[in-house]
Amino acid sequence: MVKDRDTLPAGSGAGQLYQFMAAEHARLDELLAQASAGVSAIDTEAYEEFRKALLRHISIEEKILLPVARRRGGGRPLPVAEKLRLDHGALAALMMLAPSGSTFAAVRAVLDVHNRLEEAAGGAYEQCEELLGSELDELLVQCEAAPQVSVSPWVDSPKVVAAAKRVLLRAGYDGSLLNCRRDVPE
Ligand SMILES: [Fe+2]
Ligand SMILES: [Fe+2]
Repeated sequence: MVKDRDTLPAGSGAGQLYQFMAAEHARLDELLAQASAGVSAIDTEAYEEFRKALLRHISIEEKILLPVARRRGGGRPLPVAEKLRLDHGALAALMMLAPSGSTFAAVRAVLDVHNRLEEAAGGAYEQCEELLGSELDELLVQCEAAPQVSVSPWVDSPKVVAAAKRVLLRAGYDGSLLNCRRDVPE
């Protein structure tokens, strides 16, 4: 079982799957930082790129990695699979929001916890690598070839913010991360 993230050592990074997925995390971190770096305006192009890349990354994990790990584990999901799915749901809900300082803060808060659970020593990626055995190469090909997912336009509406707060809370995060909506000029 994965422990609290602050007590987790970083994964060894030796495996190919780990390296592929951790490189995607690093690229996502760059795009999020770029989107939110402006002092007078949000880089909406970087944010659009981030949304596409994050939703594709989640799709790879949900449609390829977690199902294969479950099959190779004799039908048992990874111990952390349920938490990862809740986080993926929270991230998908956040991707429906217009870009703002609070959107960025909430996404960052979820990713800080979530990516650690995946990248830590003994975390989801290392567990997947151990389970995959001879299927690893084929799985990497599938991950690399995974298509873009369709991304809906964001919606700047209190209802969508309220829905995102509920999903954040269900996943164990603080819904008040989304309280201040106009904290970065748009
Ligand atoms: Fe994930
Ligand atoms: Fe991930």
